[in-house]
Amino acid sequence: MELAGQIIRDGGLVAMPTETVYGLAGDALNPESSKKIYAAKGRPSDNPLIVHIADIEAIDKIVSDVPKGARELAAKYWPGPLTMVFHKSDIVPLTTTGGLETVAVRMPSNEIAREFIRAAGGYIAAPSANKSGRPSCTTAEHVFNDMNGEIPLIIDGGAGGIGIESTIVDLTGDKPCLLRPGAINLDMLKEVLGEVEVDPSIGGVESPDAHPKAPGMKYKHYAPAGELYIVEGDMQAVCDKINLLVEDHEKRGETVAVIASNETKSKYRCKIVRDIGSRSDEISISHNLFAILREMDDAKVSTIYTEAFDTPILGMAIMNRLIRAAGHKIIKA
Ligand code: TXA
Ligand code: MG
Repeated sequence: MELAGQIIRDGGLVAMPTETVYGLAGDALNPESSKKIYAAKGRPSDNPLIVHIADIEAIDKIVSDVPKGARELAAKYWPGPLTMVFHKSDIVPLTTTGGLETVAVRMPSNEIAREFIRAAGGYIAAPSANKSGRPSCTTAEHVFNDMNGEIPLIIDGGAGGIGIESTIVDLTGDKPCLLRPGAINLDMLKEVLGEVEVDPSIGGVESPDAHPKAPGMKYKHYAPAGELYIVEGDMQAVCDKINLLVEDHEKRGETVAVIASNETKSKYRCKIVRDIGSRSDEISISHNLFAILREMDDAKVSTIYTEAFDTPILGMAIMNRLIRAAGHKIIKA
């Protein structure tokens, strides 16, 4: 922790574990650190970084006003997988916010992350630690594979629990607006804030061209090297459809894979079937999602068929990632 904190205070970068995905951390108040983050990730510099804090008091220095709803959300869901967007104070450099006058703030629940943030001075800018466009990292090994040679230190905190990035809610407009779905879902936000708008770009299927308010949501993201297709519909129809499609590819000697659930994996006739988790344990699905997308690259799979995972609580967040990874390619069974 001492070493990690020192690297950050000297303007360097460290990868840190969080309860969602690994972050590529730098000093949020040092513009040079933010520039290094963009360079290491290969990320466009108009895509703002989330500022991570360890203690609620830290917010007042970086945010110009904190609306009442935000205090209530923080009381209920911080520390945790929730990011709130506020008007920024002057101390936050525009390099960190990608040129915006707003700042996204999150207080992670991972204890290692919070200890590290304190050791590093209290304000950590951290995007997900993947190379831009790749699936986010849920293990230290994923970070090593993407960032080897770019950064001096990875804090290995084991596999991230939730496995997909935090919910982002924008509190700078007239009405709160959900910019990125995550484990704190829309119903949970509405319970505290009342009405919450949903950025049209995260609806998914019908809106590949919408202009998202979270700049990062406009970029191609999470995509595996192979072609990923989501097959949706009645479960039996989905299995039948996927089996037919797979047969075709395997006949041609192509490497094809199926992403199935614990409940359905035995129904598929395919050489590579990956069990993502159980539909009755939603977090097992979000937890494994990015690791499986990465495995598909390692196995040099050219075509991947996945079931849809429209589960009750995390479904919106899981499908948002999956739809983007698939480049909106959806087959109705
Ligand atoms: O769970 C997480 O949030 C992880 C961990 C490391 O904390 N971080 C993460 O960061 O997912 P990143 O950079 O991969 O995604 C941040 C998203 C981007 O889509 C970015 O455009 C958006 O948040 N964002 C950041 N600041 C914003 C702002 N001021 N207004 C609107 N969107 C913002
Ligand atoms: Mg990211």
